[in-house]
Amino acid sequence: MGTLRDLQYALQEKIEELRQRDALIDELELELDQKDELIQKLQNELDKYRSVIRPATQQVHKQSVLQEQQRTKRQAISAEPTAFDIQDLNHVTLPFYPKSPQSKELIKEAILDNDFMKNLELSQIQEIVDCMYPVEYDKDSCIIKEGDVGSLVYVMEDGKVEVTKEGMKLCTMGPGKVFGELAILYNCTRTATVQTLTNVKLWAIDRQCFQTIMMRTGLIKHAEYMEFLKRGPKPALLETIG
Ligand code: CMP
Repeated sequence: MGTLRDLQYALQEKIEELRQRDALIDELELELDQKDELIQKLQNELDKYRSVIRPATQQVHKQSVLQEQQRTKRQAISAEPTAFDIQDLNHVTLPFYPKSPQSKELIKEAILDNDFMKNLELSQIQEIVDCMYPVEYDKDSCIIKEGDVGSLVYVMEDGKVEVTKEGMKLCTMGPGKVFGELAILYNCTRTATVQTLTNVKLWAIDRQCFQTIMMRTGLIKHAEYMEFLKRGPKPALLETIG
């Protein structure tokens, strides 16, 4: 039979075992919270993709049906940009709004953090940063209304907003986040409503500036490819191909 000392020792061991289990439970709970947060974030991204991809594919389908009905005879369609197009866009002077190095960094990081914009070229991001102008809204204002035609893309500098869709809360957003990009990028109506929970300070860029920046780089690249193709393959390249 165990002595009192043995029993005390066994009790101590059990207490230690329990303490370790508690610590493990705390650790697992923390991990679970982090995973929940990640799931929520991914769910939001998925919702965003769904809200632009479904209307966009429906629109493409509708357009191709319409085109089929309208096309009575073969028509040549050229997507090749003319030199005039590029020069035209090159001559557009974009507005420039000076801002602090911190604000510039915040806008750049917000764009790089946004799934739909992070693949822009650095030169495009720089141009967007320069074009953005300051906008402020009071608490409880509606910045974006679901279903409206969009005209601005925003980056949050200060404050908090809530995103809802069909009356259901999707998420809240704070400083360093882009919003209002979907309607402009995908030429669809606003996919959600964005309302202020506090007074907010934002940076905004209008659709025209945004699209000029997008198209300018696209057209220059396209013209470069066309120029490359027009020059034809070099003999050395032909030899390599065999
Ligand atoms: P846009 O559709 O132009 O206007 C509403 C904005 O809300 C949208 O762009 C996105 O920036 C944002 N938004 C839409 N759906 C979600 C979502 N599921 N999670 C976070 N933000 C969203």
